[in-house]
Amino acid sequence: MAQLWGGRFTKNTDKLVYQFNASIHFDKRFLKEDITGSLAHVAMLEKQGIISTEEKKAIEEGLQGILKDVEAGTLVPTEEYEDVHSFVEANLIDRIGDPGKKLHTGRSRNDQVALDMRMYIRSQVQETDTLLKELLGVLHRLMGENLDTYMPGFTHLQKAQPLTLAHHLGAYFEMFKRDRGRMRDIYERLNYCPLGAGALAGTTYPLDRDYTANLLGFYGPTDNSMDSVSDRDYVIEFLSALSTIMMHLSRFSEEVILWNSNEYGFVEIDDAYSTGSSIMPQKKNPDIAELVRGKTGRVYGALMSMLTTMKGLPLAYNKDMQEDKEMTFDAIDTVKGCITLFTGMMDTIEFRKDKMSVSAMKGFTNATDAADYLVKKGVPFRDAHGIIGQLVLYALEHQKAIDELSLAELQKICPTFEADIYDAISLETCVEKRLTHGAPGIQAMQKIIEKNEYYLHEGDWKHE
Ligand code: ARG
Repeated sequence: MAQLWGGRFTKNTDKLVYQFNASIHFDKRFLKEDITGSLAHVAMLEKQGIISTEEKKAIEEGLQGILKDVEAGTLVPTEEYEDVHSFVEANLIDRIGDPGKKLHTGRSRNDQVALDMRMYIRSQVQETDTLLKELLGVLHRLMGENLDTYMPGFTHLQKAQPLTLAHHLGAYFEMFKRDRGRMRDIYERLNYCPLGAGALAGTTYPLDRDYTANLLGFYGPTDNSMDSVSDRDYVIEFLSALSTIMMHLSRFSEEVILWNSNEYGFVEIDDAYSTGSSIMPQKKNPDIAELVRGKTGRVYGALMSMLTTMKGLPLAYNKDMQEDKEMTFDAIDTVKGCITLFTGMMDTIEFRKDKMSVSAMKGFTNATDAADYLVKKGVPFRDAHGIIGQLVLYALEHQKAIDELSLAELQKICPTFEADIYDAISLETCVEKRLTHGAPGIQAMQKIIEKNEYYLHEGDWKHE
């Protein structure tokens, strides 16, 4: 047991207590952030005349050596240490002796862990954003290729009106675009440096907090030392944004699963992204989509866990906050894995355009347009609605689509119908005429695709 705090104790820590308290098995994940933070701290201590230049150099070399050796696998952060901070400090003292004992001057593990977590989340926010951008790139390509791929649009999972695949995918483009916006918001709010807050009340050493904040790429130091060590809002915000990403991916997965079913047959998932059954040889299962949908639960779980951990904590640091890590790390790994796999699946999926357009023609998706046709000929909309309702009933009885009925049959129900009805309610017309901003008509969609093109290349958030 290598501890930093034995002095005021007369007995050794109970072994189970030690294990219960230790966090090294998960906080070793941010060893790099811990060392980067310490390097900035010692640079500042030297600049302020708190340690000598020689001491600073010895500490720097020692810290860099530790990072190198851990990366090379010759030094392992084992359970012998309580946490990553103790591991680094104990190793530093082993390596360089007395100067190593000065590293922690004017610092507490409370501001240290707050810094490490913030820097770790900051880089994960950027990585998540990059993965979302790759997914948007695939959707953008598919949208460009499917401007005239007709499919039924649904409400209540019942066929409603025809639209295009580009338009349907465009809805998800908007969702993931907003998810990227959330990454940026979180980054803007979290990018302030807690280092120098000490245990909770700052310190009497003349620390230069602006200097360390600047060295570590923050906009500036945080403004209240108690809040600095006890704030985990950025973790909650990130988990909330990750949960929203999963909710979007899960909805999309649900559709892929439906589209892949025998009943729909709209898509063919690439062999590399589907799996078989051990008993039923005919099966090709959409496991990736199902797993993404399933894993959504554990990400929501991390958010709930973090909100609950924080809700009763008095200021400032409490050990409860060590619980901010494991589920957050799991959520981050899960979401990054899900976005990556989902992107790969969408990049290789085949759309069965023939089946999609046949499906769009069935199910009376042109009923609204048939009513609009009558309205344009002077029938009030409410009457037109009733007439088309009767027509649908008649067509259902005869197992035909509206445009499969003869003009005589149509006119029997309403004499206003003329030969131009067939053109007015064809699949092409139904989609093409929908040209309001944000609608599926080709020209309307093209404008959105151009806007997206600009967003992906020019108007994009570039990470520092
Ligand atoms: N392992 C701790 C955590 O993750 C580090 C901070 C410990 N501070 C303390 N006062 N015990 O929160």
